[in-house]
Amino acid sequence: MTFRDQIEQHIDHFAEMPPLCQRLLGYLEDPDVDFKVIRDTIQYDPGLTANVLKLANSVYFGAVQEVASLQAALVRLGTRRIFELVLSLNVSGRLVPALPGYGLEANELLRHSIWTAVAAQELAGLLGMKDVDTVFTAGLLHDIGLLLLDPFIAEQHERFGQVMDEQSMAFDQAEKEVLGMDHAEAGARILERWNLGAAMAAAVRWHHAPDAAEENHSLVYLVHLGDMLALSEGVGTGIYGLQFSVSPESVRALGLKKHHLEYTASKTLDKMRELENILT
Ligand SMILES: [Fe+2]
Repeated sequence: MTFRDQIEQHIDHFAEMPPLCQRLLGYLEDPDVDFKVIRDTIQYDPGLTANVLKLANSVYFGAVQEVASLQAALVRLGTRRIFELVLSLNVSGRLVPALPGYGLEANELLRHSIWTAVAAQELAGLLGMKDVDTVFTAGLLHDIGLLLLDPFIAEQHERFGQVMDEQSMAFDQAEKEVLGMDHAEAGARILERWNLGAAMAAAVRWHHAPDAAEENHSLVYLVHLGDMLALSEGVGTGIYGLQFSVSPESVRALGLKKHHLEYTASKTLDKMRELENILT
């Protein structure tokens, strides 16, 4: 069995979505969904209820007046954001363990993912884009493929070194060469299984090669730049993080200047603290 076949099997297993997420995803499709139904789904999970309230009341989402009830919080957040929150909380738990193959200690991937999500969302806000929630979730999930590939990377450690030295390949190319699949593709495959939409899957698929994306360029570029900002701050670099480079086209196409990126980096630092409290 090839490495790629083995990774495919892991994707099947990994992509099994928790029942609560599945139920909420069903409600998302229904434009007339009654918030009471969603409340009834969530309220038996005290941890989740607390997090929904925390999020609805956080300055992160521009809260002015405090909401005390779960239903009011749900109305404020909206169905899409609730689903993304539930998914994020579920995923963020999985991002915690150390990944020895990539040289990431416990919590490093989670920090890197939140940093990327916040930076990408900040950039979207700066550019006056709508749908910034989707940008956040795509950023949070962009490296989820690392979880699948880590054991293979650890096992093939020497081979990676060889391929990268001898053929001077970028790390994602080396993943493809040695394993038959890179972590961006593995991550996108998980998102496709979760039916999170083609745009989000594309953002994950092309986060290291944004110029190769055929569609959804803005979202792809935002996640790419969020990732690069996180790495340039030294968040979640691991052994291979610095092998990636910024696509100049992503900066040009979005009309960004150097000062936008610097401003985003400092804003991201502030917001990190609040979100780390919610997601960890
Ligand atoms: Fe990545």
